[in-house]
Amino acid sequence: ALVPLRILLDHAAERGYGIPAFNVNNLEQVQAVMSAADEVGAPVILQASAGARKYAGETFIRHLIQAATEAWPHIPMVMHQDHGTSPAVCAGAMALGFGSVMMDGSLRDDGKTPSSFEYNVQVTREVVQTAHAQGVSVEGELGCLGSLETGQAGEEDGIGAEGVLDHSQMLTDPEEAARFVAATGVDALAIAIGTSHGAYKFSRKPTGDILAIDRVRAIHARIPDTHLVMHGSSSVPQELLALINQYGGQMKETYGVPVEEIQQAIRYGVRKINVDTDIRLAMTAAVRQFQAQNPDKFDMREWMKPARAAAQAICRQRYLEFGCEGQG
Ligand code: G3H
Ligand code: 13P
Ligand code: NA
Ligand code: ZN
Repeated sequence: ALVPLRILLDHAAERGYGIPAFNVNNLEQVQAVMSAADEVGAPVILQASAGARKYAGETFIRHLIQAATEAWPHIPMVMHQDHGTSPAVCAGAMALGFGSVMMDGSLRDDGKTPSSFEYNVQVTREVVQTAHAQGVSVEGELGCLGSLETGQAGEEDGIGAEGVLDHSQMLTDPEEAARFVAATGVDALAIAIGTSHGAYKFSRKPTGDILAIDRVRAIHARIPDTHLVMHGSSSVPQELLALINQYGGQMKETYGVPVEEIQQAIRYGVRKINVDTDIRLAMTAAVRQFQAQNPDKFDMREWMKPARAAAQAICRQRYLEFGCEGQG
């Protein structure tokens, strides 16, 4: 059944676990996430980006998620809009039946230019007012995602600041976070702690303190009642990169966010962890492997099946690692 984000995150906070929020774009991804949740008894956050709505079409995104609630009626799930770039985009999502929206006011409505604190407060507050009036939860974002290593947002054609950011922009300030939450009333706050979107997060193998975990702790201490959100939280499994490259891919050396660091962040109040890239990698690796090993096959169901299974496996793993087992 569809529930507001707030309900799931309150439960996660009470019990001290985190919920992966998986980006979905098509039938197979929705099935993969739901099947994985069903296997382990996890609650579900399905999120659709503007890119997903464009790819599948708003009607299909809405009905895919509706279909998931019918096929798995016992699983509590949230239909969340990822990275709304303006109040108008968020209003559109609410009209489509999303029970949760992200107003990403950390960037201007081009999705690229870092905004001012005042702009961010203004657009986010506006969304909270309309959303809360209809029982919809709101996620805001303060600070710009970016690799502390390179100062780059990471995503070339999606959501992400253009150019090189300075260090302070990439770490959310606890005092500012407190002012932001007081001024907007958001249910959840995405914070910048050194992650970035996409596959190319870190060029060297992380040594254990790649994220600003102290920052998570300080922010949580300052706003204990606000659920924290981590974007850019794919772990970029090395075995998936190896498979992709073994079967004709050409991905460069890269590293993601270590699961142990996410687990630490969960201890300090992170309740929603956004994962998209890991599912992309898992599906691409499976398709490449299948195609290379079965060059005579052409029935799309035959290669979609292992891709869906690979996505399900990575989702199941994250549910277990973030503590979701039996919480749904
Ligand atoms: O925010 C980034 C998510 O990974 C969504 O990516 O805009 O390519 O769908 P997308
Ligand atoms: P990844 O690119 O690390 O999977 O992050 C996804 C995300 O933050 C979606 O909002
Ligand atoms: Na989001
Ligand atoms: Zn994101």
